[in-house]
Amino acid sequence: MHMHKYEKLWLLFGITTLLVFTITIGVSAFYMGNQPPSCLVTVDPANVDTTAPFDQPGLKQVGDNQYELIVVASAFNYDVGPEKVIQVPVGSTINFIGTTKDVIHGFEVAGSNANMMLEPGYINTVEATFNKPGKYTIVCNEYCGLGHHLMFATLEVVE
Ligand code: CUA
Repeated sequence: MHMHKYEKLWLLFGITTLLVFTITIGVSAFYMGNQPPSCLVTVDPANVDTTAPFDQPGLKQVGDNQYELIVVASAFNYDVGPEKVIQVPVGSTINFIGTTKDVIHGFEVAGSNANMMLEPGYINTVEATFNKPGKYTIVCNEYCGLGHHLMFATLEVVE
């Protein structure tokens, strides 16, 4: 088969482009890996129930006025331990540590600055101090399906 000079050039150009493209992708994939940036902590969404600390959701006191609340979100529920109402004394700081077992959920403690997104595969945290006694409703602020409005829990800050 006779190939025109320009056809050969184009073929060479095409092959070279493809090679450069492949090498670029290969090299960048090698350097970046398939891991997300190290600031993001991951968890297998299929094994949340058996992965610490999410195997034991709920409130833990970690210091004077310092608490951790382990939260597992799923459609359409927040697992915050055996009690649906979390109680802490006034002046407490709570570090909320959450993830989701299925779709993206929100996590907002209405009336506080605690507000985060829970994405499958990732652990997210937010901290807030509660100096005012009262009931704070924990709500989902990301539309997650038909039961979205049913997702809530309650935080009670007591004197
Ligand atoms: Cu969960 Cu909206």
